[in-house]
Amino acid sequence: MNTPLQRIQSAKARGEKLSSLTAYDYPTARLLDDAGVDILLVGDSLGMVVLGYPDTTLVTMDEMLHHTRAVVRGWAAAKKQSLLLADLPFGSDASIERTVTDAKRLIEAGAHAVKLEGGSSHVGHITALVSAGIPVMSHIGMQPQQVRVEGGYKIKGKSEEEAASLLSDAVALEEAGAFGLLLELVVPSVARTITQRVKIPTIGIGSGNDCDGQVLVFHDLVGGFPWFKPKFAIQRANIADEIQRAAAEFISGTKAKG
Ligand code: KIV
Repeated sequence: MNTPLQRIQSAKARGEKLSSLTAYDYPTARLLDDAGVDILLVGDSLGMVVLGYPDTTLVTMDEMLHHTRAVVRGWAAAKKQSLLLADLPFGSDASIERTVTDAKRLIEAGAHAVKLEGGSSHVGHITALVSAGIPVMSHIGMQPQQVRVEGGYKIKGKSEEEAASLLSDAVALEEAGAFGLLLELVVPSVARTITQRVKIPTIGIGSGNDCDGQVLVFHDLVGGFPWFKPKFAIQRANIADEIQRAAAEFISGTKAKG
């Protein structure tokens, strides 16, 4: 029987597209694993959609561990089909030693693999993680942990120079041993070129339809964070409205009995 990681590694050759959703807690992880999602990502986006931070740079290692453990418990109670991928938070790449130490803590918490933002500058980190036996997905294109430096969430690969640099990052990260590449806000034609060039799967977000898979923040899928809706995300439910409707019914029902 193949592990979730082995299934993900062989999906591209089989021509099977991969699905990934974020999960930050027990019930969501349990529901999404049973629904059959290929990758459950404990994304540092939890800082924004669960903890109310303005961006992901404030998320700590302790917070990542806390949420990873909850997701692991949900997965363990479900069919255990998904790969559990956890983000290395802001600052984890300050040194290669720290990256490996932090990644080991996420693996000890029950994650199967980690994700690290960064291109060619992070090849050493990827090599060290792989040498330590830790499967790692690289995250290139728009890197949310750079949002303060870059002054916003900007589309990547618009100029020829940026497109070429993304392609060489992708190749370098594949050679360093990353098992997959997350492409965020990459111009779709550039994401397609990268996808065709590398053997490892590309998982896109806001990067067109030609990646090997797609990832979405769970709250964007179900309408759980109505204060911000990315343009590329297709919302397939409206739980914010449902929560408010149920709460209003409960409040009026309670007051009517008074
Ligand atoms: O933290 C996160 O949710 C991510 C997204 C790009 C999916 O990395």
